[in-house]
Amino acid sequence: MKAIIYRRYGGPEVLEFAEVSEPKVAQNSVLIRVKAAALNPADHVLQAGLGDSIMDAWFPVIPGWDVAGIVERVGAGVTEFAVGDEVIGFVREEILHHGTYAEMVSVPASTLVRKPNNATWAQAAGLPLAGLTAYQAIVHSLHVTKGETVLIHGASGGVGSLAAQIAIAQGARVIGSGSVLTHSYLRSIAVEPVLYGEGLVGEVRSLVPNGVDAILHCGGRGALALNARLGSTGVRVCSVADSAPGVTTVFARMDQADLLQLVELVEAGLLIVPVAAVYPLEAAAQAQLTLINGGKGPGKIVLEMD
Ligand SMILES: NC(=O)c1ccc[n+]([C@@H]2O[C@H](COP(=O)([O-])OP(=O)(O)OC[C@H]3O[C@@H](n4cnc5c(N)ncnc54)[C@H](OP(=O)(O)O)[C@@H]3O)[C@@H](O)[C@H]2O)c1
Repeated sequence: MKAIIYRRYGGPEVLEFAEVSEPKVAQNSVLIRVKAAALNPADHVLQAGLGDSIMDAWFPVIPGWDVAGIVERVGAGVTEFAVGDEVIGFVREEILHHGTYAEMVSVPASTLVRKPNNATWAQAAGLPLAGLTAYQAIVHSLHVTKGETVLIHGASGGVGSLAAQIAIAQGARVIGSGSVLTHSYLRSIAVEPVLYGEGLVGEVRSLVPNGVDAILHCGGRGALALNARLGSTGVRVCSVADSAPGVTTVFARMDQADLLQLVELVEAGLLIVPVAAVYPLEAAAQAQLTLINGGKGPGKIVLEMD
């Protein structure tokens, strides 16, 4: 099969489009014919070697943790999925080796749920990691409830755009920071846009004079330092992108119940995964460069297979 691999740490230039052997299907695993695989910032951060002190890389590495595709074969112990099922999954392993930037991937059945029936393949591939991160931050960490006001730093990004829609589905009012190019998108999902940078505190304070109830940090170095001036007394703050004293950091985990909640939100029309750009598998290096350079526009960058 065809896959994207890297044989050593580095930037987009180390990615190769190569022929590799088809993965085997162990007892509790499912072989998926990949229709789409989403990029995440962790892919290029780990590819650069920045996780080397905590994570083994078995070269050559196929990057990628997000998948949407069709079940091709199931292991002898798998009863939940059958050949032909359309599935999505967050298939992070504790080593770097068998990722999703490939025509086929073999993954534990426990990392999969059904694909939302109203999502495109690109949208479906963009849901698992960004969606789990957003859901676990908004629902499990910040416990956002009806009538609250939430500020999301980086609200147009892959995680932020889903977090904003999940908070709105919880009944919250959402203010979201993003570059000016993303403000019309933010308005389209009922988020009140503000520009990040120097004027942020003034803009948020004019919208919410007493400060917001909860803050989710999804992007922007330095934004965490502003939180004391943005929140109400007792503001809850959580970050998925940075750490600071007094701030809870959320690390996404595969959880089938949470991922199914996300599928149901999509099917109910309450959550739409924005797709900033789609590339063919062989253009993974170009796709990665677009993500690294920034300014990609709202949502996810996705690789789609033929
Ligand atoms: N903890 C976890 O489990 C977990 C999981 C997934 C991701 N993450 C992390 O979460 C972060 C976001 O991931 P993502 O997939 O959403 O990436 P992304 O799609 O690239 O989004 C990042 C967003 O940050 C915004 N941004 C840039 N400069 C900013 C600033 N100064 N202030 C506020 N926002 C700014 C950008 O908005 P504009 O385009 O409008 O400039 C961009 O859309 C990354 O650091 C990623 O590593 C963590």
